[in-house]
Amino acid sequence: MQIRNDSRTYYERLGGETTLRQLVQRFYQHMDALQETKPIRAMHAPDLKTAEDKLFMFLSGWMGGPSLYIERFGHPRLRQRHLPFSIDESARDQWMLCMRHALDETVEDQHLRDELLAAFHNIADFMRNKA
Ligand code: HEM
Repeated sequence: MQIRNDSRTYYERLGGETTLRQLVQRFYQHMDALQETKPIRAMHAPDLKTAEDKLFMFLSGWMGGPSLYIERFGHPRLRQRHLPFSIDESARDQWMLCMRHALDETVEDQHLRDELLAAFHNIADFMRNKA
């Protein structure tokens, strides 16, 4: 049995800024391309660049790296910021589908991938504001 006792942050285990950038880029490329995610794509601005930058900055701090989002914009208040959008189970699952593909493509360590998937699922579920 392999004993896992990795005290490094998600940010370090992921490979820092370079891998996080790739993850977020792939995430929005999937959102832009997949048929199944058209409803959540339509909630976003035509140009995804700002959303991509903001998700990168937020995840940097959330993963234990530099707190880029907070330094620039203050407290994220993510749930409140998502209230203008109608987020039900289907929207959550569409978001997770993009993230699952992006994680599969950018993170080699399967254990880390599984941990991140579970953590993202929790936040995405917390963002639901419609039955
Ligand atoms: C559950 C499904 C979700 C949907 C449908 C959704 C949708 C959106 C939309 C439409 C925006 C505005 C983008 C724009 O301005 O064009 C946004 C912003 C954002 N989302 Fe989400 N989101 C979801 C989950 C999440 C999760 C799980 C996270 C974090 C892990 C997240 C992090 C962010 C951040 C950081 C922003 C930028 C906030 C700002 O304006 O400062 N979102 N999201």
